[in-house]
Order: sequence, then C-alpha cells, then structure tokens
Amino acid sequence: MRVRTRSIGILTSGGDCPGLNAAIRGVAKAAIHYGIEVIGIQDGFRGLVENRTIPLDARAVSGLLTEGGTLLGTSRDKPHKMLMGRKVMDMTEVAVGNMKRMNIDCLVCLGGNGTAKNAWRLRQATDIGVMTLPKTIDNDVGHTDITFGFDSGMRIATEAIDRLHTTATSHHRVIVCEVMGHDAGWLALGSGIAGGADVILIPEIPYDLEVVADHLASRRKRGKRFSIVAVAEGAKSKSEVLRAAQKSEAPESERKKAKKDKEKPPSGAPEGIDGDPPLEGIHLVQESVASRIARRIQQLTGVEARVTSLGHVQRGGQPTANDRLLATRLGTKAGMLLAEGVYDVMVALQGTETVPVALEKVAGVKKLVPPDHPWIHAALLVETSFGA
Ligand code: F6P
Repeated sequence: MRVRTRSIGILTSGGDCPGLNAAIRGVAKAAIHYGIEVIGIQDGFRGLVENRTIPLDARAVSGLLTEGGTLLGTSRDKPHKMLMGRKVMDMTEVAVGNMKRMNIDCLVCLGGNGTAKNAWRLRQATDIGVMTLPKTIDNDVGHTDITFGFDSGMRIATEAIDRLHTTATSHHRVIVCEVMGHDAGWLALGSGIAGGADVILIPEIPYDLEVVADHLASRRKRGKRFSIVAVAEGAKSKSEVLRAAQKSEAPESERKKAKKDKEKPPSGAPEGIDGDPPLEGIHLVQESVASRIARRIQQLTGVEARVTSLGHVQRGGQPTANDRLLATRLGTKAGMLLAEGVYDVMVALQGTETVPVALEKVAGVKKLVPPDHPWIHAALLVETSFGA
C-alpha cells in the first residue's frame, strides 16, 4: 500500500476520561507501523497555539494502555475564543501557523462534541486535514454508537450506587446520587439501571418530585424502607422546563437581562475571593441539583435524605476492558485511515464496525437519550420511576 501521510499531530481536548491514553497509543502505534511520524501536542488546542509538542515514538507510547487520564494533558480551550492573559482572543491563525510549521498532514483530535466543532472550525481556516475520535464519559456524541470513557464512567457510578445501597438500607434513608453527563442522561440511566436505582432522573425526561415522592411512599408501604435516586447533573423538573420555554419566547431585551442577572453572583455572596470581581469564563459554584432534590424529597416524604455527588471520580482511574478495546480499535482504525490519506472524518463505532463519518456531518451533533429508548423500557419494567 502506498502510505499517503508523512506526519500527524495528535491532541486531547475537553474533559479527560479513561481510555484516552489507550487511544493515543492505538493511533500512534498504528501510524508508526505505517511509517508516519507522530507529534504529540500538549494540553489540547492551547498547546497547539503555544506550540508545545513532544515526539511520540514507539517508546513514548509504550505501557499506556491501562493508564487513566491523558499523557498529553488536556484543556477546554478553543482556538477561536482563547483566554490569553485576561483577554479572550481569536487564535485560529496562530494555531494554523503552528500546524504548518509542524509540517503535519493531519491533526488528530481526541475529544467530544466541542472538540469536533473546534476541529471542524479549524479545518475551515487551513488545507491541513483534521480527524476526531469520540471520547467522553457522557456518551453524547452523534453518529457513533458509543464513546470511549463511557463504560469506565458507568462502572464507577454503578459501583458507587451499589455501595450506597448498603448504607441507605442500614439507615432506612433516601440517598440521592448525582451522576455526571452534562446535558445527556446516558451515564445516569446506564449506571442507574445497572445499580438498581429506584428512581432515575435524566435531562431528557423532565421530572415532577411529587411523582417521585409517591413512588418512594409506595416502596415504603411494600416494606422497602430505603431508596436510591440516581440523578443526572443536567436533570430538570417539569416546571423548570416550562419556565425555560417561556423565557425563550420572551422578547430579546428581557432574555438579555435574564442572562446578565444569571451571570451575577447570588445576592449577599462575595463577588470573588477577597471581593475581587469574578474572572471572565469562571463559573460560580451553585447548589447541586442532587441537594435541591434531596431537600424537597425529605419535605414531601418525611424520610431522612442524604446526597452523594460523584463528580470527577467518574473520570478518574484505569479504563475498563471495554474502553481499552474500543479505544484501541478506534485508534488503530484512525492509523489505517491516515495511511490511506482519509482526513476530515470522525472514526466511529457503528454496530460492530469502526467506520469513518464525515466530520462536517458530525461536528456538534449531540446524541441525547430518546424517550422511547430500549433502556427506558427495561427500567420501567423493573419498576424504576423516572418521576414523570
Ligand atoms: O464532559 C465530561 C464531563 O465530565 C461532564 O459530564 C461534566 O459536566 C463536565 O465534564 C465537567 O467538566 P469539568 O471537568 O470542566 O468540571
């Protein structure tokens, strides 16, 4: 076979997840097999803009398969809107200039929806190819059946729910466990079913806490004096959804004002540490969705409730066997496609096959849980409530 690529750059962008190192290893080993030079770019698109690279030879990627995190480092920076000092700037030209200087034929970006969008945006400003591999514990990337990282995140959340069962049973409590997932419910749904949660709340099915309370009360009547509620961080109540819909119909001026008010720190709270103004792009920590839900459940049922927020634990540690396998399959497929000169694609898993999908079609397409998904039917048949 005539190998059509001489050199590639590879970066990891967005939130890390287990399986990233396995994917880097897969891409690099396959590329090296075809005689392609591999340059590692540090800390996502920021490293690209700042021209921070490391050579990825066979030795550098050896022993990576089982390691969590990413040896390249990652960031949530976007080339077209990057915080430089205290100013947000468009660094696209600098990024493209560095890609040219590196003399690469293609930039391989390991990331989720945001990364695919940013890679595609970068492609509009250069004739150098781009390729993405779908990673995230959220599993919310369109046109792939699954993302690597999801299985590991789901295993961690499931184990946590298992452990919560024994303590909830002993104390006859309701424990509300908050699971990550951004705007998608895959992680809460998968781990909630696997862990046997009694209630699962996900963004795709707006909930009513009175329905949840009735479900918990009926469990108690049947002698089940504990309950586990798995709640996705993005879950919304019916009334929140209604309010959001009303707001989006409000005139432009009112929406702008509401957005400004939301960005303001809550009244009475300090503006920042030692009264400094909050930094641009830094979010204020708000009360978690799980604690609001637990408080209300306690009021409605009179049963003692507790909260566990799993947070970044779900992104830590070693990848599962499934994630190692998927990351290696997607990574090595990427290497094969690069050797053939196939660029501007995301390497996806569809059915049992790893396939290239046009990046233009993928960039920014979110995959949410369809309300009639088979996992939902299965959960309903084992008496799980979605609070709807
Ligand atoms: O996208 C992965 C994810 O873990 C989401 O589930 C979560 O909302 C977000 O990242 C957290 O981001 P950060 O690590 O920047 O706090």
